[in-house]
Amino acid sequence: MSNELLKINNLSAKVEDKEILKGINLEIKKGEIHVIMGPNGAGKSTLASILMSHPNYEITDGEIIYQGEIINNLSPDEKAKKGIFLSFQYPEEVPGLTVESFLRAAKSSVSNEQVRLMEFKKNLKEKMDLLKIGEDYAKRYLNVGFSGGEKKKNEILQMAMLEPTLSILDETDSGLDVDAVKIVSQGVKMLANNSNAFIIITHHKKILDYIKPDFVHVLIDGKIIKTSDASLADEIEIKGYEWLKI
Ligand SMILES: Nc1ncnc2c1ncn2[C@@H]1O[C@H](COP(=O)(O)OP(=O)(O)OP(=O)(O)O)[C@@H](O)[C@H]1O
Ligand SMILES: [Mg+2]
Repeated sequence: MSNELLKINNLSAKVEDKEILKGINLEIKKGEIHVIMGPNGAGKSTLASILMSHPNYEITDGEIIYQGEIINNLSPDEKAKKGIFLSFQYPEEVPGLTVESFLRAAKSSVSNEQVRLMEFKKNLKEKMDLLKIGEDYAKRYLNVGFSGGEKKKNEILQMAMLEPTLSILDETDSGLDVDAVKIVSQGVKMLANNSNAFIIITHHKKILDYIKPDFVHVLIDGKIIKTSDASLADEIEIKGYEWLKI
């Protein structure tokens, strides 16, 4: 069986009649970690949103092939069930829903079966310990009053619990202190194996000190204009993006 997980062919997309993605090509195999960097407004979050079928964004051309199947028109829910996970740049606050209830409902929904309570609690505790998240956290309302770093840790906890096949992390390191960046990186390392893959969207090289990506892509003005290994992130840190623009 092929280990190809995701193939994006000539993907173009618009939001509110504005063309944002202009022919994206990307191939991701199982076992790989891909980083996408690029200036503000380049279309990185748009690409992530499109991959998860956010209703504001419309595909105008091209195709997204996941595990051999064209998934352009699947709903976010169908995609989640197929093992695709997106950690948002700006997670929403949900008063009245605890972290624990949310995670259990999400897990049941994705795995299509009722998750046994004791098993779930044990798994949750293990993952929270690994991510150094305090116990009282599970009883708090989802993202309500969470600091930026806590929201991000919560997204990583969600990822750790759902064990997705394809994880897309949008700016997970922004606003995180050094220890939190380590925890996010640990979350990725803890989960990464030969049957899953990651797309990490970031502005900072810092997270790459802990995670060794297989590829770094630069997205500028809706196109991936350069792909290389991790050294590209170092180069961008020093030289910025101007030299890459044509
Ligand atoms: N819902 C929307 N309505 C109008 N314009 C939008 C919407 N979503 C995105 N855009 C526009 O699309 C462009 C790309 O935005 P996007 O969020 O994908 O950039 P980004 O690469 O993630 O930037 P950043 O690094 O700042 O997170 C921007 O010009 C943005 O204003
Ligand atoms: Mg963004």
